[in-house]
Amino acid sequence: MKIAIANDHGGYELKVHLVNYLKEKGYEVVDLGTDSNHSVDYPLFGYKLGKEIATNKYDFGIAICGTGIGISIAANKVKGIRAALIYDEKTAILAKQHNNANIIALGGRTQTNREAEKLVDTFINSEFELRHQHRLDLLEKMGGE
Ligand code: RB5
Repeated sequence: MKIAIANDHGGYELKVHLVNYLKEKGYEVVDLGTDSNHSVDYPLFGYKLGKEIATNKYDFGIAICGTGIGISIAANKVKGIRAALIYDEKTAILAKQHNNANIIALGGRTQTNREAEKLVDTFINSEFELRHQHRLDLLEKMGGE
């Protein structure tokens, strides 16, 4: 499994933790930064991750800022991106089952490392339900007007 990950300063520590966690599980992880706690602008990192995931070279992406909100908004600016903020078991499952999210967003200031591990594992282990495909097709047609 190949995963890309990007974060702002609010997500840096959780990013470092998750990169190690996911690599230990044998996943390939491409880290798009930022690489420290120094303040940066989350729109730039969310958009960069969105562009990378839109190449279809990855299984999915992980976006982390303080809350996961800003960076998911930025990623969703890229055509073809379905970035979902997940924050409990239900949203981690439904983001895959219903939305087939290609980016999940987490909050470095709202989740513990252990909670984030569980959310990522739950998302990975869930399956998209094809009955929702027509809604994704509608989303794909939107934007750019
Ligand atoms: C940065 O201070 C903070 O606004 C950012 O990490 C994020 O939470 C935005 O949604």
